[in-house]
Amino acid sequence: MKLDDLQIGIIGLGYVGLPLAVEFGKKYSTVGFDINEPRVQELKSGTDSTLECSSEELGSAPLLTYTSNLESIESCNFYIVTVPTPITDENIPDLTPLKKASEALSQVISKGDIVVFESTVYPGATEEVCIPIIEKNSGFIFNKDFFAGYSPERINPGDKVNRLTTIMKITSGSTPEIANFVDSVYSSVIDAGTHKASSIKVAEAAKVIENTQRDLNIAIINEFAKIFNRLDIDTEEVLKAAGTKWNFLPFKPGLVGGHCISVDPYYLTHKAQEVGYRPEVILAGRRINDGMGEYVATQLVKKLAKEKIHIDEAKVLIMGFTFKGDCPDVRNTKIIDIIKELQDFNMKVDVYDSWASKDEVKNEYNIELIDELKHEEYDAIVLAVDHSETKNMGINRLRSLGKKQHIIYDVKHVLSIGEADIRL
Ligand SMILES: NC(=O)c1ccc[n+]([C@@H]2O[C@H](COP(=O)([O-])OP(=O)(O)OC[C@H]3O[C@@H](n4cnc5c(N)ncnc54)[C@H](O)[C@@H]3O)[C@@H](O)[C@H]2O)c1
Repeated sequence: MKLDDLQIGIIGLGYVGLPLAVEFGKKYSTVGFDINEPRVQELKSGTDSTLECSSEELGSAPLLTYTSNLESIESCNFYIVTVPTPITDENIPDLTPLKKASEALSQVISKGDIVVFESTVYPGATEEVCIPIIEKNSGFIFNKDFFAGYSPERINPGDKVNRLTTIMKITSGSTPEIANFVDSVYSSVIDAGTHKASSIKVAEAAKVIENTQRDLNIAIINEFAKIFNRLDIDTEEVLKAAGTKWNFLPFKPGLVGGHCISVDPYYLTHKAQEVGYRPEVILAGRRINDGMGEYVATQLVKKLAKEKIHIDEAKVLIMGFTFKGDCPDVRNTKIIDIIKELQDFNMKVDVYDSWASKDEVKNEYNIELIDELKHEEYDAIVLAVDHSETKNMGINRLRSLGKKQHIIYDVKHVLSIGEADIRL
């Protein structure tokens, strides 16, 4: 296959798939396929509810079309799979979307086609889970009739600086020739260049450890914060001081939600356990990060008690619900843990977030977001997400939302040191 012959099919048009489809659609004939019909309709009408692509960006890819009809991707010869890879309630990888996408692919691929997976998985998933499904259902033989690659996505939703084309991309292929071709396809659209890994498994492992390392780095800072809170030392001040050493890593404490950092480590620990190794450090980090919502709520309750503010029926405002700042994604947000814990103390909790979709929050979490901020209403205000909007409000406006006596808890270090009553 030559670059000129490329007909790209992207399976899954979410946070990862859409920007990729747009980039390829500037250069190559590209069809974006998604099983979610409303998602396809919104993209056809020029809107992206994930806010990753503006209408202008969507319009900048003249060779891109969208479909929810599987037959419409039959003529493609280079498929890229970007479907979700969640975990179950028991923290076990749920490969259902990936398996379904593989089944769908087996109905549309032709001899000589290449299938590249981008979804985050554990090392081995592409060749042990996806390829056998395609082989079985298509009757084709792997590395003879069709080929594979793996190129993990590294985008950071909401980040307008580090974009798809400015982040170096890892590539790999099922044979040396295919690895070279996959690499040349990505190099043709990624300005930052590519790193060709020696195998699909290496590329899979690289992605999953990037996020696992990040999760652990945040976990140790969260542990520091818990210690410093007991010692009555401000964590940010300590981090600022320690950060003057060249090799001290600049991580912050916080809630780790979303469907990457808080999920991907479980893919690695699952595989580790399958091969007889019980990971200790990774799971300890997960436990600390998963417990931070409850910790924040407990800290708030203690502070209210200390200030002699009635806990029963106290009114609390939670500023922010998305899993991170300036991003509409509410999947796996840990703010819900704070809310549930406070409600268990019989507090009345209002949640404000102008980034989040009211309908999605209602459907997924049964929470009614408030539209307007009320004055002199709250016993406690929790700055849970570092949206620019919250930062820009400043301490005086935030204090005006509180009753005469109230507590401001700055979880995300949105305010300057000394402005809030408690900080993580
Ligand atoms: N969002 C991120 O920041 C990010 C970054 C790097 C890697 N990843 C990884 O990329 C993958 C995709 O993540 P995302 O955030 O884009 O997910 P997403 O939920 O935003 O999008 C996935 C899309 O796939 C569609 N889909 C599901 N099953 C399908 C199927 N069988 N056929 C066709 N379409 C299907 C869904 O309708 C959805 O539109 C995951 O493995 C994730 O871990 C995500």
